[in-house]
This record gives sequence, C-alpha cells and structure tokens, in this order.
Amino acid sequence: MASPRHESKSSDLKKVAVIGGTGFIGYHIVNDLLRQGCSVTVVTRNPPEEAPAEWKKNVTFAKINAQKAKPEEFKAVFTDHQGFVYAAGGDPGDEEFHEKNVDAVERIMQGAREAGCDRAVILGSYYTYFACNEECKFGGELRQSHTYVASRIAQAAAARKIGGDAITVAVIEIPWVFGVTPGRVSLWKKLIDWANSSKPLLAPAGGTAAVSVETVAGVAVAALRARSNKNIPVAEGNFTWQQLLNKVGRTSRTVYPVPSSIMRAIGTIYGTFSAVPGLEVRHFLGKVFTQNLFMDLKQCRQKEEELGISHTEGEAMARMEAAFKATIDSCLGSATLKATPAGAGTLTVFTSLGTRPSMGIKLIPRVDSYTEFQKKYTTLQSADEKIAALRSYKLQYPGSPHIRDINQMLLSLQPVATPVASPLAAVEMYSKSALTMGSTSLP
Ligand SMILES: NC(=O)c1ccc[n+]([C@@H]2O[C@H](COP(=O)([O-])OP(=O)(O)OC[C@H]3O[C@@H](n4cnc5c(N)ncnc54)[C@H](OP(=O)(O)O)[C@@H]3O)[C@@H](O)[C@H]2O)c1
Repeated sequence: MASPRHESKSSDLKKVAVIGGTGFIGYHIVNDLLRQGCSVTVVTRNPPEEAPAEWKKNVTFAKINAQKAKPEEFKAVFTDHQGFVYAAGGDPGDEEFHEKNVDAVERIMQGAREAGCDRAVILGSYYTYFACNEECKFGGELRQSHTYVASRIAQAAAARKIGGDAITVAVIEIPWVFGVTPGRVSLWKKLIDWANSSKPLLAPAGGTAAVSVETVAGVAVAALRARSNKNIPVAEGNFTWQQLLNKVGRTSRTVYPVPSSIMRAIGTIYGTFSAVPGLEVRHFLGKVFTQNLFMDLKQCRQKEEELGISHTEGEAMARMEAAFKATIDSCLGSATLKATPAGAGTLTVFTSLGTRPSMGIKLIPRVDSYTEFQKKYTTLQSADEKIAALRSYKLQYPGSPHIRDINQMLLSLQPVATPVASPLAAVEMYSKSALTMGSTSLP
C-alpha cells in the first residue's frame, strides 16, 4: 500500500540523504522520496551489491559508518542536498545506542551545516512522547532511569542546538512499526511465531501504540518537505498486549492474564541478575511495560494534517490492518501452523517485547555503582575479566561521569573483547524463576 500522499506544492526538495536507507523503515522513505521526484543518497555501512529495481535511477550509495565518520565526510556526501533523514539510530539492547543516537547525530549535523543543508528528520522513539509529557505518571522515571530514553532526548537537543536557525530538525516519535521490507526479517517474528504456535499465550496489563511502516515513511518525508522543527508522534492504533497477540495470530486464542505483581517480581529477579543496555529492567518490566503506552490518535492525525497529509480514519485503520497482515504473512509464509508442545520458556517472550527481537536482548551482569565497580575491579586478575567488567559498566552507565576513565582503561587493555555473560543462560534462569513464581497463574 502506498504511503499517504503529501499534497504540498513545494518543489524545493530535490536531493536528500537517507542514513540507514537500506533498513526496514529507511527503505520506504527512499521509495517515497523517489515517487516524489527526489534524488536520494543512501548512506549505509553495507551498500547492496544489487540495488532494488526501483532504485536503479536516482539513487546513489555512500558507504559510511555513521558511528565513526567525521563531519567532513558527511559534508562531502551532503553537498547539493537539501537535507537528510537519520534512520540508523540505536535501540534498547543495542550496546552502542548512545554512540548511534547522540555522538553520530552531532557529527552528521555538523557536516550537514557545513554543506548548507536546511532540514533534517530523525527517526526517534515513542518513549520520548511519554517521557516529555508532564502529565504522564511514569514520564519522569522514564527520563531519569532509562539511559536509552535519555539518549533520545539528548539526540534531539544536540541536533537542534547544532542546527540553530540554519537546519530544522523534526523528530518522529515512533511506536511499534508493522509492515514489510524486502529481504528483511520482521522484528516481530518471534512474537508472531509465538502467537501462532500452540504454546500458551500470556499477557500482562498494558499495551502499545502501533503504526504501519508506510505511514512512518510518509510522515518523515512530509516533515522534511515542510521543514518541520517539531516532535511528531505517529500512530494508527492502540492495542492492549492481549489484543496485539490476537492481532498477530491467524486464529484468535485465549490470552491468559499475567498479574502486575508477577511482572514486578519478574522485573526484580531479572533486574537483579542482569541488565539490558539502555533500560532499567526492574522499572521497565514492573512499571512501564504494564502501562497503556497509548498515543493520542487524534493528535497524530492533526500533526499529519499540519504536514499536508490527508487521509480518513478508515484509511488509516485499513493501512494498519494491511501492515499487520503483511507482517504475519512474511513471518509465517504459507506454512501450516506447527504444533509445538506447550511448556517452559514461554515467558521468555516477554524479554523481547518492547525492544527488537531480531537483535535479541544483550544481558550483562549488573554492578551497582562506580565505587562498587572499583572494588570488584581491583579483585580481577585476567585482562579478559577486566575488559568484560569495563564494558559492562560502560553499557549500563553510558552517561556516567566516569566514562572517560573507563574508556582509557579499556584502551590500555586492547584488544577489546566481546561482552560477558551468556544471554541464553540468563534468559533461561529468568524464565525458570518466573515460571516457578507464576506457576499458580499458568494454565
Ligand atoms: N522498527 C521499529 O519498530 C522502530 C520503532 C521505533 C523506532 N525505530 C527507529 O527507527 C530507526 C530505523 O529503524 P529500522 O527498524 O528501520 O532499523 P533497521 O532495519 O535496523 O535499519 C537500520 C539501517 O541503518 C543502517 N545503519 C546501522 N548502523 C549504521 C551505521 N553505523 N552507519 C551507517 N548506517 C548504519 C543499516 O545498514 P547497515 O547495517 O548496512 O549499515 C540499515 O540500513 C532506528 O533509529 C530505530 O530506533 C524503529
């Protein structure tokens, strides 16, 4: 289904760079820009050997690692471009979310400014929609406890500071996105596999807003065209977790409720033994995940209208439904449903909700404070152990004032090793504990 059409007569948008243009959302943004007559430079670390057929004309590739490139490299790419879309940010669970969301954006904005760009669009997260809303009862805690959310707020502030009066910066506040991009496995595959298995379906209170990938792309391009300088929430529907499981299942099945007290207990156990980069697990599982992370659909529609996008509520719902269907079809194909034995491990699915199942969640051992860390660090013998501990600290506290020291210590211990702990082992332990504690409520 095509993106909502932008009615503006403005024709000053001729050349745009899409950083992350080969990604799930970026691909649709590139297509939208092409449909509107723009030339596009797709920036990626891995330009495809064979570009999509519709990209043969008017698309060029720049092989750049946005986390490492200097402003001058971006300046060279952005020459003659009116602006860029940043579709390569980091997510919760991504070790380098801070570098991707803040540091890279600062260098990109500097390059864009020097190249004379006058507009930028950043694909952000709907967590800022809640975190920056004074009326949201968990907004303050979202801002303070979750370094991922803080990185998204810092990203917008840094981009607007560098942009000043020269470059407008629109930030798209994106909830769960459904839809399909050729060659990419859906982020929701695990969720969809689960909803279509014979394993018991379980869901706590709460739910999420959702949107189709076409709408996100349409809004991003319209924001670019309109030189919007605002945060723009996008959503086409709000679904409880229970409704969402039924939406992504081909047949409607009973979803058993998980009491909030159990979710809090899971959060405590999980958060005691492990950490997810960017998220404070205890608070997230116990207090955020069980909320209705719903967006004001009327407000979203209004924002779209301000950008010149017009479509009826019925059209928006149809696009959302089509996106669900396309996602389910892409995950399940035409295969008949496989019966899998019900049993242990089901709750592990919760560990993937709200983040990016395709990447999985990285679990790292928790340390409580820098003093505590230092005490433990002095007892470590091998370089590998030290590197692991330093990396672990860095991931949990990317905003810590001690990060510079940590980086220097890491540098002195090169080569850098991979993160510690086995994610699988931690998830198993967590799910076993959760299942034991929650056994009375399990079917
Ligand atoms: N999908 C969702 O449900 C959702 C929801 C909320 C917010 N968002 C946000 O929307 C943005 C795009 O999400 P997505 O799902 O489209 O992501 P994606 O499918 O993972 O695509 C990421 C794109 O960025 C490129 N990229 C990654 N790191 C890069 C780097 N260091 N330098 C240059 N290019 C890089 C990737 O290509 P290479 O790997 O070849 O470099 C790819 O083209 C992200 O910021 C994400 O946080 C997504």
